[in-house]
Amino acid sequence: MPATVIDGKSLAASLRATLKRTVDALAARGVRPGLAAILAGDDPASRVYVRNKARACAETGVHSEVHEFAQEVCENALLERIARLNADRAVHGILVQLPLPRQLDAGRLLAALAPAKDVDGFHAANLGLLLQGRPGVVPGTPAGVMRLLEHAGVPLAGRHAVIVGRSNIVGKPLALLLLQKDATVTICHSKTADLACVTRQADILVAAAGRPKLIGAAMVKAGACVIDVGVNRLADGKIAGDVDFNAVKEVAGWITPVPGGVGPMTVAMLIVNTVRAAELSIA
Ligand code: GUN
Repeated sequence: MPATVIDGKSLAASLRATLKRTVDALAARGVRPGLAAILAGDDPASRVYVRNKARACAETGVHSEVHEFAQEVCENALLERIARLNADRAVHGILVQLPLPRQLDAGRLLAALAPAKDVDGFHAANLGLLLQGRPGVVPGTPAGVMRLLEHAGVPLAGRHAVIVGRSNIVGKPLALLLLQKDATVTICHSKTADLACVTRQADILVAAAGRPKLIGAAMVKAGACVIDVGVNRLADGKIAGDVDFNAVKEVAGWITPVPGGVGPMTVAMLIVNTVRAAELSIA
């Protein structure tokens, strides 16, 4: 039997509808959540991501502003803008779109964000809180993956979750969230010996390596839940995930498509974090 396809697009749409009601209720109390995106340089994918985030803001009634900078911008100009946004009472969330132009140090810029406004959850303070299992801002992609798993009713406690990819923004935080739900977690990466041997043991397999069709059917246990975080642009301009969807859907129990799986949930969770930041600002 082919896998159940987990529809991130429709789950994200219903989450945005719920968020709109929360935003309307906040408006009645005189608060409009606001998100500022910092976009430096001319990476075409980053432009699309920032546009999608601004659209989600518009749909949910969240104020949004995009602060654009040239490819050659110096770090001080961005640090000054971040300081201004940290102090701006109309802005509850600030995100620095990654990747940044080469001359910029992402770590220094993220460290300059007020942790309460760090709606991407990339600041060391928020990642540290996540490590300790204390409340903080959780990065959108891993938070979105957890919502998808919960929505699909995938059991986690005592199950083996294998994550392929060890980034600070997906693999590592997702491992912590799955641990909180009592999964046994393995993180694989480019130096892992015999990747297929590990992935075949997964009850939950998350592909977040940024390599098109890395995960084939022979790497997946029958009935496993396969979550595809990959967004890869192919030579023909099409977007492909890290999973060979057509082959793997014949083996897996659940699978997320690309597009229409994790991507829309990442954006929806960013809005969740922004609305939450606005609520906390008046609490
Ligand atoms: N680049 C890739 N994913 C993300 C994300 O979730 N947030 C930001 N700011 N940049 C990214």
